[in-house]
Order: sequence, then structure tokens, then C-alpha cells
Amino acid sequence: MEKPYVVCHMLTSLDGKIDGAYMSDPACAPALTAYGELRKTFDCQATIYGTTTMRGSYSDWLCGELTHCDTDYGWEDFVAPSDVQNYIVSVDPDGILGWNSCYIEKKGRPRAHVIEVLTEQVSNDYLGYLRERGVSYILAGKKGLDCALLLHKLKTLFGIERLMVAGGGVMNWSFVQENLLDEVSIVVAPVADGSTSAVSVFERADFQPERKPAVFAIKEVERLQGGALWMRYVMKQTNTEGYT
Ligand SMILES: NC(=O)c1ccc[n+]([C@@H]2O[C@H](COP(=O)([O-])OP(=O)(O)OC[C@H]3O[C@@H](n4cnc5c(N)ncnc54)[C@H](OP(=O)(O)O)[C@@H]3O)[C@@H](O)[C@H]2O)c1
Repeated sequence: MEKPYVVCHMLTSLDGKIDGAYMSDPACAPALTAYGELRKTFDCQATIYGTTTMRGSYSDWLCGELTHCDTDYGWEDFVAPSDVQNYIVSVDPDGILGWNSCYIEKKGRPRAHVIEVLTEQVSNDYLGYLRERGVSYILAGKKGLDCALLLHKLKTLFGIERLMVAGGGVMNWSFVQENLLDEVSIVVAPVADGSTSAVSVFERADFQPERKPAVFAIKEVERLQGGALWMRYVMKQTNTEGYT
């Protein structure tokens, strides 16, 4: 199946955490700046985030109670008109996120059109809600998310050649789980806060089966300002036999 090149780009603490108090320490500031700058070097037309990250930082919170939609839209994908070719891809298997607009504008980032990623668990009312707001959506899976199908649709329906996976941990792992990640890029800040509950770069959710450890080959390492480090790895393709 055709798919975009997929790179996971993350900022972490010295102990591999992607969230927590360490981020607001002044010692993390140079790494944060470098993280934002380096994301541009990958030249990706789209960035994908998990539901938790979307709800906390990008969507207009939750959709709440929906009005009834009389038209039956079936399981057809919806490519809405967009005046930009830059996208934020929002994984929302059950259709819960709220939208006031089909565009997301963040300081220092280009205006991006929203593509919702749904499964057949979503209600027809939610499909109507998205169409009314001009938010594009694709169906990728019946119950669980089918990441291979998702990537195929991003490439063939939206022409996305390069995709950035940028958190959270569950979303990142979903691509490793299915051997669909091409590269991992990590900016390590020289800070740690000792949290035992903060999320790591990769988190296997309870709904995902165990798999053999993923193995990566080093591509590049660079020292950055303020004691930060930039590490790039490519994922070694693992034989799927032996998965439990
Ligand atoms: N440091 C950084 O660079 C960086 C970047 C981005 C985010 N973050 C941090 O990451 C944290 C969130 O990470 P997280 O791991 O808790 O959440 P997440 O990956 O953002 O979202 C997890 C949720 O997304 C849905 N999901 C993801 N993959 C799925 C799959 N394969 N199949 C079905 N559903 C799937 C599920 O939603 P449901 O359970 O609702 O079905 C799942 O619980 C936040 O604290 C955020 O600040 C850090």
C-alpha cells in the first residue's frame, strides 16, 4: 500500500518523558526552541496527534450533545475544500472532539486544515457535525484504528508525501506497533523532574497487543545549544512473526 514517509519528532526530558514540570524550567528553554525550529527541517505537509493531545492543545474541546442529522452519510470519506495544503490530522476514533472552524492557527506554525480520523464506531450525527463545519474526515477501521489504511488514505486522498507524528505516546506507539514508522527524531533537554506518571515517547495502550521490542539504527547525533541533544534513528523493520 502507498504511504507517506513517517517521522516521529518529539521533545523529551533526560529520562524520556514528553510532558511534565521539566518543560517549564528555564534549562529546558533552548531545547524547546530547537525542537520548534527542527520540525521545519522535515518539510512535512501534515502532523498527526492522538486524541488526548488534540483535546488538550488543538481542538475546541469536545463536541458535547449533537443535533440529529437526517442525511445518512454512510462510511464515505469526506474531503472538504481547503485554502491550504497543510494539515493537522486528528485521531478521534469515536468522534468526540469539538470544532468551531476547519482550520487551526498556532503561533509560529502555518495555518492548517483539520482532517479527523474516525472509525466505524462514530455516529452519523457526528459525520453531519463535521460536514457542517467543513472539517475533512477519513474512516480508518471498524473498531480499532487501522494505521496502514489511514496512511494510505492520507497519501491518496490528500497527496500527503511526508507526515510528522508528534505525540502523544499512544499515538506514536501505534505506528511502531504496525512497523509503519520510518524515522524517530528526539530533542533531549538536559532536565528531569522524576515524575513516575508522565507519559513517555512511546506508550502501549491496553487495547494494543504486546509486540517484540522495536529496534532502531542510529542516523545522526548533534549537540545543541544549552546542553540539549538531537538524535535521529531509523526503525529497523521487524519480522512480524513472534508478536504475541
Ligand atoms: N513533548 C512533546 O513533544 C509532546 C508532543 C505532543 C504531546 N505531548 C504530550 O503527550 C501527552 C498525551 O499523550 P498520550 O499518550 O496520553 O495520548 P495521545 O497519544 O495524544 O492520545 C491517546 C488517545 O488517542 C487515541 N488513540 C491513539 N492511538 C490510537 C489507536 N491506535 N487506536 C485507537 N485509538 C487511538 C485513544 O483515544 P481514546 O482512548 O479516547 O479512544 C488514546 O487513548 C500530553 O500530556 C501532551 O502534552 C508531548
